[in-house]
Amino acid sequence: MCGIIGYTGSENVREVLLDALELLEYRGYDSSGIAVKERGTEEIKVCKCAGRVGDLRAICELQRALTGCGIGHTRWATHGGVSDKNAHPHQIGKVTLVHNGIIENYRELIEEYHLDGLKSETDSEVAAALVDRFYEGDPETAIKKAVRKLKGTFALVVLFADQGDAIYCTRNVSPIVATLCDEGAMLASDLTALCRFTNRYFVVPEYHILKLTETELTLTDFDGNRVEPEYQTADWELNSAGKNGYPFYMEKEIMEQPRAIEDTMTNRINSGMPDFTADGVPDTLFTDCDRICIIACGTAMHAGLVAQALVKSILHMHIDVEMASEFMYSDPVIDERTLVIAVSQSGETIDTLEAVKYAKRRGAKCLAVINVKGSSIARESDYVLYTNAGPEIAVASTKAYTTQLAVFYLIVARMAHSRGVFSAEETQSFVRELQRVPQAMQKVLERRHEIHVVARKLLEAKDLFMIGRGLDHSTLLEGSLKMKEVSYIHSEAYASGELKHGPIALITQDTPVVASVTQEKLVSKELSNIKEVKSRGADVVIFIKETLAGNLEEEYSVFRLPAMRDEFMVMPASVALQLLAYYVSSDKGFDVDKPRNLAKVVTVE
Ligand code: M6R
Repeated sequence: MCGIIGYTGSENVREVLLDALELLEYRGYDSSGIAVKERGTEEIKVCKCAGRVGDLRAICELQRALTGCGIGHTRWATHGGVSDKNAHPHQIGKVTLVHNGIIENYRELIEEYHLDGLKSETDSEVAAALVDRFYEGDPETAIKKAVRKLKGTFALVVLFADQGDAIYCTRNVSPIVATLCDEGAMLASDLTALCRFTNRYFVVPEYHILKLTETELTLTDFDGNRVEPEYQTADWELNSAGKNGYPFYMEKEIMEQPRAIEDTMTNRINSGMPDFTADGVPDTLFTDCDRICIIACGTAMHAGLVAQALVKSILHMHIDVEMASEFMYSDPVIDERTLVIAVSQSGETIDTLEAVKYAKRRGAKCLAVINVKGSSIARESDYVLYTNAGPEIAVASTKAYTTQLAVFYLIVARMAHSRGVFSAEETQSFVRELQRVPQAMQKVLERRHEIHVVARKLLEAKDLFMIGRGLDHSTLLEGSLKMKEVSYIHSEAYASGELKHGPIALITQDTPVVASVTQEKLVSKELSNIKEVKSRGADVVIFIKETLAGNLEEEYSVFRLPAMRDEFMVMPASVALQLLAYYVSSDKGFDVDKPRNLAKVVTVE
């Protein structure tokens, strides 16, 4: 869950590292550090601290204009608390190292190799000590020997005091991408950090050694054979990872959604029909299966729950949505006739990745819905549909969620047509409605100040409920996750009908309720449930499809959502709920993009 950068080249190393760490900070932000080695010297200067990259920048007193090489790290603590000494890089002997992942057998290694005198409580320092123990002037041999002793997941990036401006790297599971460009050679945990320089990159294969110098990249396998890097071109614009004048990435990313949905549909609609030819996804994937199983975590799983409701109502198929972290331990019903759909923004979530591997071992075909190109889950899966949302930096997922939904609408439409459930006309009508989504979202965004007014009513709340039925409930599960993660208000999404089976006992005048009412067939029941909480003193905020029930404004705070077919109301409603959470958080003065205890990419189980 940590961010790693390595750079060797002609630019000011310290600035390249610090700028990159700021872009990578969303991967972990409890401590940060850099190590810099000036060209022609053997001294490696380390500067690190508990705190954000901003704090690091303030204390970095390394030479200002400096060329050479360096490595940097932002940490999400696993082993050892948040402290200066536990921050990376770790330095032992000639070795300076940063690590992402978990070394599971670090205790055994300390004992076996008598690694006394470690300065931190981290598993990572053990990896540094081991590389140093094996180092006799040949970096690659030392790294390989150390790696053969490690159990767990790791991306290791190493500087050796006596190896000029070279940087070495190896990995297992934890991702590293790398590139060579005009300004030098660089590697990072993800593309976000490289985007400023280039959009050409390659994924470092597992159990290989990558050596970077200013002018050259050398990739070898563990038997010493040269391997040609497989370069890819990201279609993210350079600098697309900036804030574009918005105070927070979350706001920028919420505002980008109409465009992101357009980009997700591009090349996937042909003569009004959903078409995955360009993605290489064959119709047989959708016809040769008896059941569907969606595996994902957090927001991505919530997108899966919306898909589940659509699949049940349109395709009448058996579909399960499994939390990836529970999947392998819950005896899942998976076989060759199961279509497994893995959903992930980062494509690196370890639970989802392991679940995909497990499902494949059981014979299932796996389709991944992913945002980050070339990520581990994308590579592990049989087929991939990319969401084309562009870089999502805010920890709270917004545009990744709605683009995942857009892909699901396309999948459901294609599947319904290929399985003979939808006629061509029905399919085209469904797709036409999907094409209206950007416009409906835009209408919500243009009225965002109204949502800001409503958000002010929630600022004092300690607890709140979100209630709705059917698809509204699925939408609110995500809305509620957004609220709790960025505003720290305890928020629970409940199926409204279930409320009186217990939780209504918690409703008081201090427990605001947010309701979503967008499904025509459920309006009267949902409004009755709203009355029930109102009668118990709750202030109620209602997000309602504009064409449904009138005269609510006297009793409630109401935001009317642009009308779409019921199946698509999730889209404008989700944008409204994202804005609600965003305004509560920013009005409370929180760091919206980096909520406490969280990290964007969850690479530990
Ligand atoms: O990268 P992934 O989509 O696999 O991440 C899964 C979850 O960690 C993620 O959706 C998380 O719940 C959101 N960032 C919360 O907003």
